[in-house]
Amino acid sequence: MSRHLLVTNDFPPKVGGIQNYLFELWRRLDPASFMVLTTDHDGADQFDRAVDFEIQRVKGPLLPTASLARRIDRLAEEFQADLILLDPALPLGMLGHRLQRPYGLVLHGAEVVIPSRIPMLRGILKGVMKDAEILIAAGRYPAQCAYDLLGESIAEPKVAIVNPGVDVDRFVVPSPDAKLAVRRDLGLTEGLGVLFVSRLVPRKGADTLIKAIAMLDQGKGSPQLWIVGSGRDKARLGRLIERSGVDAVFLGKLSQDRLVALYGAADIFAMLCRNRWFGLEQEGFGIVFLEAQACGVPCLVGDSGGASDALDPGGSGFVVQNPKDAKSTSLALETLMRNPELRLRMGQRARNFVESDFDYRSLADILKDAIDSVVLA
Ligand code: GDD
Repeated sequence: MSRHLLVTNDFPPKVGGIQNYLFELWRRLDPASFMVLTTDHDGADQFDRAVDFEIQRVKGPLLPTASLARRIDRLAEEFQADLILLDPALPLGMLGHRLQRPYGLVLHGAEVVIPSRIPMLRGILKGVMKDAEILIAAGRYPAQCAYDLLGESIAEPKVAIVNPGVDVDRFVVPSPDAKLAVRRDLGLTEGLGVLFVSRLVPRKGADTLIKAIAMLDQGKGSPQLWIVGSGRDKARLGRLIERSGVDAVFLGKLSQDRLVALYGAADIFAMLCRNRWFGLEQEGFGIVFLEAQACGVPCLVGDSGGASDALDPGGSGFVVQNPKDAKSTSLALETLMRNPELRLRMGQRARNFVESDFDYRSLADILKDAIDSVVLA
């Protein structure tokens, strides 16, 4: 059995895509085969007591300092680790060259694209990536970012694509009664409900969705928009909702159980993620799409980065090619809204799609094989 240390700034109980990815994959590995070094967070004690692998936490963000390198070396020695996995590639990956043991990187996309456009950082990142034993890419898009940066200097097996996934036993299709109960519990409409789940930042495109709903033919009835998440864009979105007269509800941050139930209660899931800053900011993948599909809900997905890999286009939902365009979003939304049979068919396809390709159990096997292939080679 190989042994490794995962060093990351992003681990639960903090909430987010990277946290979900790391936890849901790593908790499925043999608990004796790795340990985690991460940052402290509210609720961490309780969280750490509930898991069966070892977690050590430090105050504040993990930065590429000499003292952190010494700490990692010490831990790796005690744990007899064969490999150190660092996430993100920058700045934490800069520690790689200082460590006594081989290292690898976990890539999500943005942390490669942004530094690779800044001349000084580009060289540093390239060096850090070239000397890594393995690059674990959270999807095709971050893998492509790595190939774009390293070009011919990279041997193919060094990049292992391990897609994000979903816990298909927890995210399930609810009964009609359960759907209704959640809606009543949260004071939501019993008519059509469109769900959006994300940090409220411009890149995630809640503004396009609000504008698209406002453009629908009101005579045929409008859906209610359910917005889950928090963030700096909330006030602007609130003003947009007020001006447009869209029926929308901000639900804030929800507990995991509530969120699962709400996904299942929705008729349509939509997140019109888009590129920003001339492509510097893109969607790495979009775990929220998988979660919605696991609950049998068809998706509208903005075409950005690797997001279109998170659904079966035309089968389990639609990709909106220009996610800034409210009109085309509105048309796609209308197609789903006015066609319950299509929603049902796409919802069934969605569930099958994630079960066969994005079950975290099989993805964790891919991860294990990828790590073993470099350590035990
Ligand atoms: N419990 C709870 N409550 N969970 C939430 C809430 C909430 O209010 N809001 C969001 N989440 C969870 C979602 O359920 C999902 O698991 C995660 O936070 C969001 O993940 P992504 O949709 O993947 O977005 P991200 O921007 O945070 O993640 C980044 O890294 C991912 C992994 O590489 C992006 O680059 C993604 O595109 C990428 O998939």
